Amino acid sequence: MDATPFDYQAVLDQVARDVAPLVGAGTPAEYIPALASVDPAQFGMALVTMGGKVFGVGDWQVPFSTQSITKVFTLALALSAEGGDSLWERVGREPSGNPFNSLVQLEYENGIPRNPFINAGALVVTDRLQTLTGDASSELLKFLREESGNPDVAFDAEVAASEHEHGDRNAALAHFMASYGNIDNPVPALLDHYFWQCSIEMSCADLARAARVLARHGLRADGSRLLTRSGAKQINAVMLTCGTYDAAGEFAYRVGLPGKSGVGGGIVAVVPGRCALAVWSPGLDAHGNSVAGVAALDRFTTLTGMSVF
Ligand code: DON
Repeated sequence: MDATPFDYQAVLDQVARDVAPLVGAGTPAEYIPALASVDPAQFGMALVTMGGKVFGVGDWQVPFSTQSITKVFTLALALSAEGGDSLWERVGREPSGNPFNSLVQLEYENGIPRNPFINAGALVVTDRLQTLTGDASSELLKFLREESGNPDVAFDAEVAASEHEHGDRNAALAHFMASYGNIDNPVPALLDHYFWQCSIEMSCADLARAARVLARHGLRADGSRLLTRSGAKQINAVMLTCGTYDAAGEFAYRVGLPGKSGVGGGIVAVVPGRCALAVWSPGLDAHGNSVAGVAALDRFTTLTGMSVF
């Protein structure tokens, strides 16, 4: 299962050398004070093979704020708990072409968000997970601890409080969708779960391990099945088309892998059937994607040829 075609450690070392001039470029997220104070001169990258062997470079074991990367895992949990297609009646799967926190399309499209990876869509997914499990954020944390094998994966109370304090836009999105009947739970409780979810801290090593379920076509670390093979394919497809905000086309062009970014500067990427990757560097471009992170994944697929294309 782990017949390694490359010396992955040498590849990661090479990637880190190549992107070093970009580490510190861009700007850490400023709209949440707890993120704005992170040292931008950090870079880490981890790769996990199908069999669970982990390689890493730089700050690959340093925990950081995962933010919107968690949207992938809540989607996987909600689809798994639902066991059917009905979630897709409440959220679409087309790129939005708009910033992740945009309100503008929601009114034209009757309160149905374009995809599960913009904030509006993620709120619908968390709402569904809350209904199905009774405690969406705890279910997510439990899952991430199990998949990463790290019991220390945790919420960051300071980041969650910061999200709350600066959460007017998310509150507006949730209330607006509720006015269309597309939110089932009380909005304040839903926002709580969403903010806790965004605050989860993990390292590149943790995240790569957790994303392995999508490289393994839905199989969890313990060998049990979270998603059907087509369920995993569908999530990877939505990551490719919608996972990096309104720069998903550029990311597909440069990297050629399903990927999901977060404004903490992390990105996970999946090479189905081969490996899962996570990269982190806090400086963001104008779309909210890590400058050095995108460059590192671009270098990785260029050096190895391991893209889906
Ligand atoms: O909802 C927010 O404002 C952030 N906590 C989400 C962050 C993120 O990474 C961008 N989202 N799609």
